[in-house]
Amino acid sequence: MAFISDALSRIKPSPTIGISNVAREMKAAGKDVIALSAGEPDFDTPQHIKDAAIAAIQRGETKYTAVDGIPELKAAICRKFERENGLKYKPSQVTVGTGGKQVLFNALVATINPGDEVIIPAPYWVSYPDIVSFAGGTPVPIATKAEHGFKVQPADLEKAITKKTKWLIFNSPSNPSGAAYSRDELKKVTDVLVKHPHVWVLTDDMYEHMLYDGFEFCTIAEVEPRLKERTLTVNGVSKTYAMTGWRIGFCGGPKALIKGMVTMQGQATAGISTVGQAAAAAALDGPQDLVRERQAIYKERRDLVVDMLNQAPGIACHKPEGAFYVFPNIAGCLGRTSRGGRRIETDTDFALALLEEKHVATVQGAAYGMSPYIRISYATDTASLRAACARIQEFCQSLR
Ligand SMILES: Cc1ncc(COP(=O)(O)O)c(C=O)c1O
Repeated sequence: MAFISDALSRIKPSPTIGISNVAREMKAAGKDVIALSAGEPDFDTPQHIKDAAIAAIQRGETKYTAVDGIPELKAAICRKFERENGLKYKPSQVTVGTGGKQVLFNALVATINPGDEVIIPAPYWVSYPDIVSFAGGTPVPIATKAEHGFKVQPADLEKAITKKTKWLIFNSPSNPSGAAYSRDELKKVTDVLVKHPHVWVLTDDMYEHMLYDGFEFCTIAEVEPRLKERTLTVNGVSKTYAMTGWRIGFCGGPKALIKGMVTMQGQATAGISTVGQAAAAAALDGPQDLVRERQAIYKERRDLVVDMLNQAPGIACHKPEGAFYVFPNIAGCLGRTSRGGRRIETDTDFALALLEEKHVATVQGAAYGMSPYIRISYATDTASLRAACARIQEFCQSLR
């Protein structure tokens, strides 16, 4: 009898965490590694947010809280959804988790039955298919194309929907492609969904505030209110406020779904860290100017990285609307051999050779369901980005 469960056997460790660990070990061994692999802002958490957490500790807020979050944070989340997204949720329609990741996990594990299908446009965030598989569902990826800006085409979505489809997982701006949908593009997606009342939508809006060149964010339930009763709007403070380590994510959705998610979380991790909740409430209710200032910095970095990558022979890099990733195509580097004698047949070979020979950590597109690409996170200081892109150019130039 196998010790490891069937459910666990269906999933694999996150490749993003894997490559980041290798990079960390190389760094610890004294190698000059530039890690462009982690999806984590290099900025610090703003001071007023840290202060709110310290004040919570001083007030003695150090005990278990309600599983779905403290009332102050839930009220701040309702205000956020109304202010920024035009969405009215009651406190009973929102819940808080240990990061956006737990929110997604709760929603999928609380609703998926064996055989249920979940549509996931590719390239996708690595965890979506694994959580679906863990829950016993079947991930149904839909390939997108660079020439469509890596955005799902309504006809392809229509074709992928079957009687077994339970969810569409939608992510704009996207990790890993940076693609973001305009209101018109989103409307075309929602027009398909309106015709299929059994399909629920999980929209992962984690990168809402990372949009450039005046691109306006919009979300499913706002663009198509008829879908609100079957949409879970997921968001969090990790990326927007540089709070990845505080582990706070949240969502708004129909009451029955929220209740199921809270039951799930109650038997897993129960209430969320009190300190993190106080910090998240301060982030959502506090001044937002730092978010805008950082947006301007990310935009400059995106432009720099896209420009430098497009000067590397064999690489073609699309300029995305948002997030802090680019997803360059490396097809022109395949079939070649690196200076260190490594044959580059796949994007995994490329990422590994680049890490070992030029000490630049990226993640292979295969991890995101689309090859031959690599994902580069530009949430790193400009000098390191410039140096890393120069190394990538040298690496590509040296391929024979
Ligand atoms: C698309 C997407 N959704 C959700 C998450 C999870 O964020 P959190 O750190 O809040 O769990 C991430 C983090 O990388 C992400 O990229």
